[in-house]
Amino acid sequence: MEADLNLEHILPARRSLVLLKDKQRISAIYEDRWVNHPQVALLRATARALYEMPPRIQAQCMLISGRAGMGKTSLLKKIELDLEVIRKRNAEACSCIAFSLAPDPTLNSFEDTIGEALGVPIGKIRNGLVSQAFCRLAHLRNLRLLLIDELHNLLNVGRIDQRKNLAFLRALSSPPMSLSIIAFGVDDAVHAIKSDAQLERRFQIYDLPPWKQNDSFRAFLTSYEGTLPLRYPSELWQQEKVNFLLSATDGMTDNVVKCITRGAAWAILDGKERIDLACLEKAIDIPPYHHRFDDEE
Ligand SMILES: Nc1ncnc2c1ncn2[C@@H]1O[C@H](COP(=O)(O)OP(=O)(O)O)[C@@H](O)[C@H]1O
Ligand SMILES: [Mg+2]
Repeated sequence: MEADLNLEHILPARRSLVLLKDKQRISAIYEDRWVNHPQVALLRATARALYEMPPRIQAQCMLISGRAGMGKTSLLKKIELDLEVIRKRNAEACSCIAFSLAPDPTLNSFEDTIGEALGVPIGKIRNGLVSQAFCRLAHLRNLRLLLIDELHNLLNVGRIDQRKNLAFLRALSSPPMSLSIIAFGVDDAVHAIKSDAQLERRFQIYDLPPWKQNDSFRAFLTSYEGTLPLRYPSELWQQEKVNFLLSATDGMTDNVVKCITRGAAWAILDGKERIDLACLEKAIDIPPYHHRFDDEE
């Protein structure tokens, strides 16, 4: 039967998943995966450009802000992979480290987090100056860039610690380190950076806004559909589905992905093999349950 199916709605690399049993197809649907779309493609390209830029006296930095569930951590991980690909290609490769800021980052815990990411303690910061040991290590490893998640946590400490943390960020992005920083956080992260004139000049701020009715959202839905092992096209970009998804999810990526993946599971369980509006409506209220599997094997 599969020979008669037209699977052009599925990415070539994912087509063979359609042949799996229902239970395995549903597992594949729920696996986390990266789906590209124009907005994140642009941010990934900007991050690559920063990484490959010759070192500067004052490093250029990016802050990517967006509400919880918009896809910041997923994007950070994807950028980390992109930079790893560049590193492997070049003989004189530079390197980067990625870490998430602790929920209440005093300067000590900030230093420890970087030490953990590097695998070596970095020594103490004194009077806003980073230790010589850290400078030497960064130089030896050709460290060029830091990826920092949850930057808004900078503000979760008292005023004095906040000032020390901001001074540390300034020191990291100034000579002799001159590291580029790509940071991610909710709106508070923007306030933190804007509260410091030097950092504000160094950081270019980008927004990951909630999804709206536009080509970018339709492109994301089409690409996402391309990863789902359903036998027939769902055409998630259709107006009524776009309207439903936007109103049911507040335009948050996390919610959109949950609704589509649950909808896809319902499409299999109900034997429809395409996500219609009823599958999406059901997905909002009822997580797909697997009673049908009891007698399957
Ligand atoms: N580009 C993407 N492709 C596929 N799924 C994504 C993408 N971005 C976000 N998601 C989904 O949204 C969920 C929340 O994303 P996350 O990166 O944790 O958001 P944030 O860090 O902004 O809170 C992820 O677990 C993933 O399922
Ligand atoms: Mg996150």
